[in-house]
Amino acid sequence: MAVNMKGKSLISINDLTYEEIWQIFELSQTLKQRRLTGEPHRLLEGKTLGMIFAKPSTRTRVSFEVGIYELGGIGMYFGQNDLQLKKSESVEDTAKVLSRYLSGIMIRTFDHQDVVDLARYGSIPVINGLTDLMHPCQVLADLFTILEKKRELKGLKLAYIGDGNNMAHSLLEGCSKTGMHVSIASPSGYKPDGKIVADAIVNAKYFGSKVNILEDPVEAVKDADIIYTDVWASMGQESEAAERKKKFMKYQVNPDLVKHAKPDYLFMHCLPAHRGDEVVNEVADSANSIIFDEAENRLHVQKAIMALVM
Ligand code: CP
Ligand code: NVA
Repeated sequence: MAVNMKGKSLISINDLTYEEIWQIFELSQTLKQRRLTGEPHRLLEGKTLGMIFAKPSTRTRVSFEVGIYELGGIGMYFGQNDLQLKKSESVEDTAKVLSRYLSGIMIRTFDHQDVVDLARYGSIPVINGLTDLMHPCQVLADLFTILEKKRELKGLKLAYIGDGNNMAHSLLEGCSKTGMHVSIASPSGYKPDGKIVADAIVNAKYFGSKVNILEDPVEAVKDADIIYTDVWASMGQESEAAERKKKFMKYQVNPDLVKHAKPDYLFMHCLPAHRGDEVVNEVADSANSIIFDEAENRLHVQKAIMALVM
C-alpha cells in the first residue's frame, strides 16, 4: 500500500522508513520510463519549488530545475546573495515567510542545522540538496542506480574509500537501511561521525548487514560489489586541499586497489571528480564505472521525491 509522504521533509535518509525508500525507487522507475516514452507526468502542476544554493552545483541545480519543470511546476533559483537569509534575517523568519509563497524548498548549504531549522519553523517540505553533514538525494539516486545494475541491494558490499564526509554519512545511512554491507576506509582524523556510524550499526543489524570502519583501503575493497569515492577536500575545505592530498594519497582508487574487489564491481562517484587525486581515469572511464548513470538518476529520483512530498 502506498505511504502518504505529502508534507514530509527529506533532511537525511534516516528520516525515511524502509517502505518510503522503496516507494521512492518505484516511482523513480515509473517516472524514468514515462520520460523515455514521452508520456506526460505533470504531477506538480502549478507548484513552485524554491531552490537555495549557498554552494555551487551542476547536478543538483540542473536536475532539480529540469525535474520540477517536467513535473509541471516551476523552480526559483536563489544564489548566495539573493535572499536575506542569515544576513539580515534568521532561518526561522525566512522559513515562515517562504512557506507563505512556495510549495517546497530545496536547499544546499554549509550548516546542517540550518536545514533542520528551515523544516522545523516552516510549514512546507524541505529537501536537503547537500550540507556539510549529509547528501541524501545523491545517495537515494546511487542506491536506485545500484538496484538497476545489480537487480538487488540486500547483501551487496559497498566500499567507500576516502574522506569520512557528507557522502560517507549518507551512504552509511542508506546502505544500512537497505541491507547492504558498508566498509569505509579513511585515514585517521578523517573518519565518519561516531553517532552516524553507531546509528548505522543499529540499522544494519536490524536489516541484516554489517558496517566496518577501517583504515586500510585494501581491506575495505576486498570482495566489494561497489567501490565509491569522493573528493578529498569538499566545498568549504579548499584551504586544506594541499594538506589533505598528502594524507589521502594511499586512498586513491586506481587499478592496483580495484583488483581486490569482485571482477564485476561497480565504480561510483557523486561527482565532481578530481581526476588524478581520489580516482584515476583508468577506473573512472572503465567499463565498471557507472558515474554518469548515477548523475542521470539524480533527475528521476528527485522527481519522485518532489512528487511524493510536495
Ligand atoms: N553530486 C552533486 O551533488 O553534484 P553538484 O555539486 O554538481 O550538484
Ligand atoms: N563531498 C562533496 C560532495 C559534492 C557533491 C562536497 O561536499 O563538496
